[in-house]
Amino acid sequence: MTNKKITLTDSDGKSSEFDVLQGTHGPGCIAISDLYKKTGHFTYDPGYGATGSCKSAITFINGEEGILLHRGYPIEQLAEKSSYLEVCYLLLNGELPNSSEFDDFSDTIKTHTMVHENIRDFINGFRYDAHPMAMLVGTVGALSSFYHDSIDINNPEHRVISAHRLIAKLPTIASYCYKHHRGQPFMYPDNSVSYVENFMQMMFAVPAQEYTHNPVAAKALEVMMILHADHEQNASTSTVRLAGSSGANPFASIAAGIASLWGPAHGGANEAVINMLENIYNSGETIETTIARAKDKNDPFRLMGFGHRVYKNFDPRAKIIAGLCHELLDDLDGDQPMFNLALELEQATLEDDYFRERRLYPNVDFYSGIIMRALNIPMNMFTVMFAMARTVGWISHWLEMHSDPEFRIGRPRQIYTGHAKRDYPS
Ligand code: ACO
Repeated sequence: MTNKKITLTDSDGKSSEFDVLQGTHGPGCIAISDLYKKTGHFTYDPGYGATGSCKSAITFINGEEGILLHRGYPIEQLAEKSSYLEVCYLLLNGELPNSSEFDDFSDTIKTHTMVHENIRDFINGFRYDAHPMAMLVGTVGALSSFYHDSIDINNPEHRVISAHRLIAKLPTIASYCYKHHRGQPFMYPDNSVSYVENFMQMMFAVPAQEYTHNPVAAKALEVMMILHADHEQNASTSTVRLAGSSGANPFASIAAGIASLWGPAHGGANEAVINMLENIYNSGETIETTIARAKDKNDPFRLMGFGHRVYKNFDPRAKIIAGLCHELLDDLDGDQPMFNLALELEQATLEDDYFRERRLYPNVDFYSGIIMRALNIPMNMFTVMFAMARTVGWISHWLEMHSDPEFRIGRPRQIYTGHAKRDYPS
């Protein structure tokens, strides 16, 4: 990868040399797998901010310049010119499909859109008021119990069919989580419409009347799904890789990723953003008091939808979504006052030293909730939508990991700070 080396010298004067690995883009990485052997030390990096955990050819992010590439293609171009299913093919296979490859892929996904009838019973077993993410994490994990015959992780065909099943069935399961919550009958998938239209139909159609598609809404959701399809080694993707590194089956590994996504510091932030905006809109909170709380180190509150571990100037996905909000709110009869409030809040942070100095800008979640509300998607389904779109990213990383010759079980080390060895009292 590069001839560059780096030498570490400890306080006793002992030097050890390490290779510097260079990817296609991005900074070099010091290869430290033999650090302990050479120096007798481990590294300490809470939150893994300076640690590369794998080599990956799927997604590249440059946080300083706000660049996001999938298999080399900029997210702006994919959002404008591609479809969600085409991006799925790209992430899984490394190249854009030609038209016959796309038709074959689309047909394959369509053959897997239905779920076993027992899944309906499984979902019906949840309490009527269960959070849809609780149902999703449980049901995706439960899929392992339906496919004993095809979850051999050492069989490349099994791995691919599991990937296709997950991409195809997530919309069906996600819509069932919603229907159970609403007390409405589950709708079967309809393979005559697009992937995104099928999802909306399963969400919003009822058997009593014909469902009419709204092309503006379908297009908005298609773009949202593309923007959430992958984002390299974030918490949930790293969780999928770590869970999968022990040899866990793909359904269990993706369920682990869904659990990680659920947290408000990750995928749960879009729900938290709307709560925060509603709080400003409906209660005595103002933009000023909200910002003051976010800056107060004695208050755990953070401005939701702001900040990112990697993006330090802007999140390119947030830019696209903000543009989408502008275009679509009128058409979709969306919540214009809420969007205006979001714009005001963004403007106030841009003028505030605290946010400028820490380089905290709106992330993808800041505007995605506003679009989803305009699509009539209830708030507790927001993170489910994110999980549905991200499943292709997770499974692409899981597949890549299983064909990586350097792949081994993930097992970080620690600095032990507990008691020194002591004897049990006699
Ligand atoms: N509001 C107020 N202050 C913040 C915020 C925020 N949203 N985010 C970070 N800060 C401050 C921290 O208090 C810290 O200040 P300090 O240096 O004075 O101690 C500084 O900025 C750096 O913050 P870290 O926590 O070190 O940043 P980190 O990279 O660990 O966290 C994260 C990133 C989790 C996204 C954080 O910015 C956050 O909690 N944001 C709000 C939740 C959110 O929107 N999550 C969605 C992320 S995007 C996604 O998952 C799709």
